[in-house]
Amino acid sequence: MTPWYHKTTIYQIYPRSFFDSNGDGVGDLRGVIQKLDYVKELGFESVWLSPFFTSPQRDFGYDISDYRNVAPEYGTLDDALELIEEVHKRGMRIVFDMVMNHTSDEHPWFRESRASRDNPKADWYIWRDKPTNWNSLPGGSGWYYAPERGQYYWASFLSFQPDLNYRNPEVKRIMLDTVRFWLAKGVDGFRLDVFNAIYKDEAFRDNPFSPRFIPTENDPSGFFQQAKYNLNLPESFEFAREFRAACDEFGERLSLGEVSGSRATIRKYLGGTRNDGLTLVFDFAMLNFRFDADYFRRLLLDLEAAYPDPFMPVYVFSNHDRRRSMTRLGGDVRKAKLLAMFQLTARGVPCMYYGEEIGMTDLTMPFASALDPVPHKYKYIPRFIFDLLGLTINRDEARTPMQWDATREAGFSSAKKTWLPVHPNYSEINAAAQSQATSSLWNAVRQLLKLRSRETALHAGSLNLIESLPSNVLGYARVSEDERVHILLNFDRAPVQFPCADGDCLFKLNENDRAAGGICALGPFGGIILKNPIP
Ligand code: GLC
Repeated sequence: MTPWYHKTTIYQIYPRSFFDSNGDGVGDLRGVIQKLDYVKELGFESVWLSPFFTSPQRDFGYDISDYRNVAPEYGTLDDALELIEEVHKRGMRIVFDMVMNHTSDEHPWFRESRASRDNPKADWYIWRDKPTNWNSLPGGSGWYYAPERGQYYWASFLSFQPDLNYRNPEVKRIMLDTVRFWLAKGVDGFRLDVFNAIYKDEAFRDNPFSPRFIPTENDPSGFFQQAKYNLNLPESFEFAREFRAACDEFGERLSLGEVSGSRATIRKYLGGTRNDGLTLVFDFAMLNFRFDADYFRRLLLDLEAAYPDPFMPVYVFSNHDRRRSMTRLGGDVRKAKLLAMFQLTARGVPCMYYGEEIGMTDLTMPFASALDPVPHKYKYIPRFIFDLLGLTINRDEARTPMQWDATREAGFSSAKKTWLPVHPNYSEINAAAQSQATSSLWNAVRQLLKLRSRETALHAGSLNLIESLPSNVLGYARVSEDERVHILLNFDRAPVQFPCADGDCLFKLNENDRAAGGICALGPFGGIILKNPIP
């Protein structure tokens, strides 16, 4: 039996940008509650919310100062509990974002820890007399001097996000108890922030040299060193099992790791052959997809090999840290529909970022005025260099408010000024307009989600590639006990015809896409789904 967390579909909500219910320009939990019917109607089965816990918001919630409470601009603890209830009322699941690796430097634990070398929390963070050569994830040393102790603390991300010390059993216990606190309140699982950084080398050895300068998704070595002693330690793989065991106390709960490293490495977070570690991991290399059939064929083959049953891959093309997929696709709606069709029919859990269903694009904004702290680290490097490398440094660009309709502020807020500007393309790109237009991306996503939930082969079947297709056509079969579904996708701007098995058409992207009489004809970037084809 496939567990629910391997069959589900995930919609990521960045609460700050989803819907502002009280007119202060910032999205909030009551706003999310008000828009749950939208997510339900669209057809997602789970929602994941980026953090809304108490936080000074220097990294917009990824710097938590109280894990058991809600930041006032997002609402109250009662709102969070009501949100859980409202999601469940609609038959959906709710996934929270748990930042296990670090707290805010304003967390009372850190304030106490930094005050002296001998307070009760002195060992709750990672303190050293002498820094190692390790680089932080965004680059540059991650060691910061605290004059109170005359020592340095380690921060994997930014200076105000000190890493917790998981070698201290009390820290581990209190963090796992926090997880249990939310599980007991009904939360169905967690997305786990920078889970690959949890443990650091016990002996604090210096990282060895690497010729690499720019880290990538599948090789976090960079800035001329291998990330050997600060990332992906065996203790972190082991901790994934402990985390899973805590979740299992509450039944089938989802745990989705934000990790990076080679496939062989990140696969270790899933545990042994029985998948007794995290239930899922992101495999982020695909965020930099190339839009052609070969790329997606290779991706399917690689992920099928890396995550065979009882494991499950995750398919993700956008999130709050990266370029939106529609920006990568140059705003071409036909391509976005084909990408969605791939994502929602492949064997894996699809994870879509709010606004991806309507093709929202990034809004280019200058580094100097960025609210995101990351670009300030890089403000002396000309932007075109990052653009050439395809890197989004200013994450504000992918976090602009959800475009609900064509009214002012895209229907996101009644405030005069929203926390980030609304993308000016909202009058054309918005949910209200697209839900009216049958040929919209929104409608394609909705139909595909409904189909996926309905057809066992699509949410729980195995996957085999269909061979001997034209070079820019990708085809695969999803097969369950009593059902076989063929998915055929044309990645070319030219129409294509090829021999195929006939079956009942469950879905097609364009009017003219068809399969009959042993011939499949797909228009530019066309696609078709056939049920029970007879070979
Ligand atoms: C993760 C989050 C990102 C955050 C960072 C530090 O990568 O996705 O938004 O800034 O961790 O917590």
